[in-house]
Amino acid sequence: MCGIYGYVGDQQAVDFLIDGLRRLEYRGYDSAGVAIMRPNRSINVVKRGEHKSSIKLLSKILTNSENPGSLGIGHTRWATHGGISEVNAHPHTDPENNVAIVHNGIVENYLEIRSDLKSKGFNFVSETDSELIACLIAHEIKQGKNLFESVMNLKNCIRGNSSVIAVSVNNPKEIIGIRLGNAGGIVIGLENNSGYVSSDVSALLPNTNKITYVENGELVRLSSSSYSIYDFSGKKINRDLQKVEIDDYDIDKGNFKHHMIKEIYEQPHAIQSSFSGRVNFHSRVVDFEELTESTINIKNFNRIVLTGMGTSLNAAIYGAQIFEKMLGVQSSAENSSELRYRDPVFDEKTLLIAITQSGETADTLSAIGHFKKKSCSVISVIETLGTQASRISDCTISIRAGKEVGVAATKTLTSTMSTLFQLALYFASTHNKSSSEFLHNALNDISLLPSVISKILDSEGHIKRLAENISHSSNLLYLGRGINIATALEGALKMKEVAYIHAEGYAAGEMKHGVNALLGSDMPTVMIVPDDHLYEKNLGTINEVKARGSRTLIITDSEAEEIKELADDIIVVPRINNELSPIIFMIPLQLLAYHTACQLGLDPDRPRNLAKTVTVE
Ligand code: G6P
Repeated sequence: MCGIYGYVGDQQAVDFLIDGLRRLEYRGYDSAGVAIMRPNRSINVVKRGEHKSSIKLLSKILTNSENPGSLGIGHTRWATHGGISEVNAHPHTDPENNVAIVHNGIVENYLEIRSDLKSKGFNFVSETDSELIACLIAHEIKQGKNLFESVMNLKNCIRGNSSVIAVSVNNPKEIIGIRLGNAGGIVIGLENNSGYVSSDVSALLPNTNKITYVENGELVRLSSSSYSIYDFSGKKINRDLQKVEIDDYDIDKGNFKHHMIKEIYEQPHAIQSSFSGRVNFHSRVVDFEELTESTINIKNFNRIVLTGMGTSLNAAIYGAQIFEKMLGVQSSAENSSELRYRDPVFDEKTLLIAITQSGETADTLSAIGHFKKKSCSVISVIETLGTQASRISDCTISIRAGKEVGVAATKTLTSTMSTLFQLALYFASTHNKSSSEFLHNALNDISLLPSVISKILDSEGHIKRLAENISHSSNLLYLGRGINIATALEGALKMKEVAYIHAEGYAAGEMKHGVNALLGSDMPTVMIVPDDHLYEKNLGTINEVKARGSRTLIITDSEAEEIKELADDIIVVPRINNELSPIIFMIPLQLLAYHTACQLGLDPDRPRNLAKTVTVE
């Protein structure tokens, strides 16, 4: 949520800023802008507030020759305070244009600060809380402090979670950054007489893989040749740069029209990576080296709580059922934003599994922090190693899906589910909870996942045609039972996210208790019907739904004629182990949402009002 980027070096800043912002665009695409320190020590701010196209516009108008300067900061915005407009775009400056800042987060005591600054003679041009930060810094500089001291003073003024980087004409060769809480990381790197700073390591990778992080409660001074990190008492912290082994990801779409469909098609490979080297199919062993190296022993826990937000919460709901079933340990899924403010009875016998592909979601990070204080052990399941979640957890497991750019999670979800399934198998085998026959069958089915997913992708044409019908709907119900409740919830979430169709996911058994009242010709249903012990119950629900005039799209792994006859529309997928079936059912649901969005002329990579990484509460 909002991407921040800065460059200071011996080269022109413009190209670095544009490339950095392009790589951060998934964090917010409401507007974008840069501030460059001109050689004559004045600040040149260029911004655009055109939703979804601001970075493209900036790249066209910003040239090195017309915008000289070897220090600059940039920002790509997801709007919080103030609408989407050029004036609300970052960077923000003080009225005299002496200080420029970019900000990620929310200033909670915004009104209080605004009226205080007003009384000191400041006038504001934007509706944002971020502009106040530039003014607060400028005010301190006027009182005789330097830039570093003035940025440090923010800790005394602003409440809430914020990450800020700032530059000033009084200090034209340095960028100062500060982290107050969990509003997204600050990562810095140095290479070839250039210093880089960003909210995300992936934006630094084209230029350096020697990086370090600025943690909550710290500041950084960054120049072209050095950096220093300080705590809030002003004490210098020794933290060396580390070489990271993260592949620079490809932000191109290749031959695909959108990142979302490219990433849907990457799932066979992503799933394969999630188990390669972890599952030995010959010796029938599942091994997580991350766990063998950690102190986490599943025998020490009598409760497992899985937590996450959005799609990661749906993965947690799936995971909780898998863990409880395979381990016989009480397991539940919790929404991180609720969990952090409750005071549940957790203790050192509770294992928290935090699911966050980005490793940066503010609510999930806060939930981790909260439960670490209660002496709970925490495993984080993430995509990008080195992110905040991994730095505050006891153990980190990578889902190995590769960078996901599309805002709506697809390959990271199925890779997370595959990883959770393997994790449950690993714990079950170390806990002597799984029979060798169960392990054999489960491993066999894991090995089939990539080819089964490829087969479903081959039926994209059929799903695309079904999407044409769906695109005329204003409302949809997604129904599932048991292990596929999470599937129904996720199917509905995908449709809402990218096609803006009101869709609700429900446990099919809940229908009679209220939802049936909605059924009728204007309420099509999408039903997940695996050929499992609940099959007949699901047939009953289909009959009830049809009797009330709703159209049914059935997604099933049953080949039975009866279900084909019952369904108005049907997608048949290959049959696989019931516990893995949600991974398989996700694929047609993702394709359905994607093609519905395309049918409606929407851009599924940049859904309105959303961002890939949500670093504010
Ligand atoms: C945002 C994204 C979702 C994602 C959620 C959690 O809302 O738009 O696609 O599921 O954040 O993200 P995380 O990185 O914690 O998995």
